Amino acid sequence: MTRVWSKSDWRAKPRVQMPDYPDQAALAAVEARLSKYPPLVFAGEARRLRSELAKASRGEAFMLQGGDCAESFADFSADAIRETFKIMLQMAVVLTYGAKVPVVKVGRMAGQFAKPRSAPTESKDGLELPSYRGDIINDLDFTPEARIPDPQKMLQAYTQAAGTLNLLRAFSTGGFADIHRVHAWTTGFADVDKADRYRELSNRISDALAFMSAAGLDSAKIESMSTVSFYTSHEALLLEYEEAMTRVDSTTGQTVAGSGHMIWIGDRTRQPDGAHVEFCKGVINPIGLKCGPTMTAADLKALMTALNPANEPGRLTLITRFGAGKVAENLPRLIEAVQEEGANVLWVCDPMHGNTIKSSSGYKTRPFDRVLSEVREFFAAHRQAGTIPGGVHFEMTGADVTECTGGVRAVKDEDLSDRYHTACDPRLNASQSLELAFLVAEELSNRRDSVQMAQNGN
Ligand code: PEP
Ligand code: CO
Repeated sequence: MTRVWSKSDWRAKPRVQMPDYPDQAALAAVEARLSKYPPLVFAGEARRLRSELAKASRGEAFMLQGGDCAESFADFSADAIRETFKIMLQMAVVLTYGAKVPVVKVGRMAGQFAKPRSAPTESKDGLELPSYRGDIINDLDFTPEARIPDPQKMLQAYTQAAGTLNLLRAFSTGGFADIHRVHAWTTGFADVDKADRYRELSNRISDALAFMSAAGLDSAKIESMSTVSFYTSHEALLLEYEEAMTRVDSTTGQTVAGSGHMIWIGDRTRQPDGAHVEFCKGVINPIGLKCGPTMTAADLKALMTALNPANEPGRLTLITRFGAGKVAENLPRLIEAVQEEGANVLWVCDPMHGNTIKSSSGYKTRPFDRVLSEVREFFAAHRQAGTIPGGVHFEMTGADVTECTGGVRAVKDEDLSDRYHTACDPRLNASQSLELAFLVAEELSNRRDSVQMAQNGN
């Protein structure tokens, strides 16, 4: 008989990208407190998201996942949450129009605090300090004290996540996201051309709603027109926090990660025998798995077996992130591995993490053209394989930052210093996000034929 999974089994596995807390007693006290706090999400919601992602894997829906690279304590505000929520609603309208299927909206929000790093230390002016690992772990300030991992930060992250989720829930169902308000979601930061295109689209939607109402169908009374489903997600990196937020669903006895609706495993922590995979195995939430260029077919097969042994659709989302120009050499072999196993997965493209470069001005940036190229290559590879491109994953914000270069309202290298606010990786600003949504919508309108063919088994 196989042993029953327990939420602390990960502790016996190799531990990577997690801090070593100097004060173990303080850590234990925080874990004990957190484990009594209310969960942020409930098992029924995680199951509902799974069924929506299952639809996306069949081409009957499309997933839009987006938000900050790292949420920060300093930038926590209602305005920031509202602007990101608004731009996601706008993008979802644009994508729905192109795809003619529902868009499943998942924020990198309300829990996206812990960051894996490429190096354990950072050096500045001859001083070497431990790397910043996200506000849930240590501080961005470049001082030895700031970089000491402090377990109390988990409590602040919980509080911020709860406040964020509360506002998102209010926006989703309290009237803000009513499709009749499609005109009001504009952010004021989009460039004129994109704003015009969005206005034109919202006019068409308003016309359709007016027509429905004239024909006797009161769309204001239809719940799916007046509210949206909005889900949260984050990388399940800090397992002490994740374990403490784990709950048992009283109706089914199943274990759920109570920290967010969907959690994902990063490209640096996806070792099939490692701690992160071990934790994710036992919770019922939809699981994302980042797949970078070093992922082999054998790795992927082992991971699919570990994470989705019953091969349930909606459980596993493969988020590919190879970099522009590298999709054709990497994605087809992973698609083949999935096909060989007959595995049910949702394919999502993260065109951000393979396209980070250092600009001539010294900032970490991502050129818009490369982001767009990777998205196009993703759609092309799936078209060729006859498989379904089911979603996109962006680092983005509703704010008017200058972190990624390019776009119609072009951000240049020398502009990066103007409004470079990210605590970690560079994000698309509102204008770039909307522009990308229109471009993805074009790909999606072409996708409809391929989806039909895949559904007919051709
Ligand atoms: C991230 O999504 O912020 C991230 C670190 O991604 P990856 O694991 O794909 O590098
Ligand atoms: Co990132």
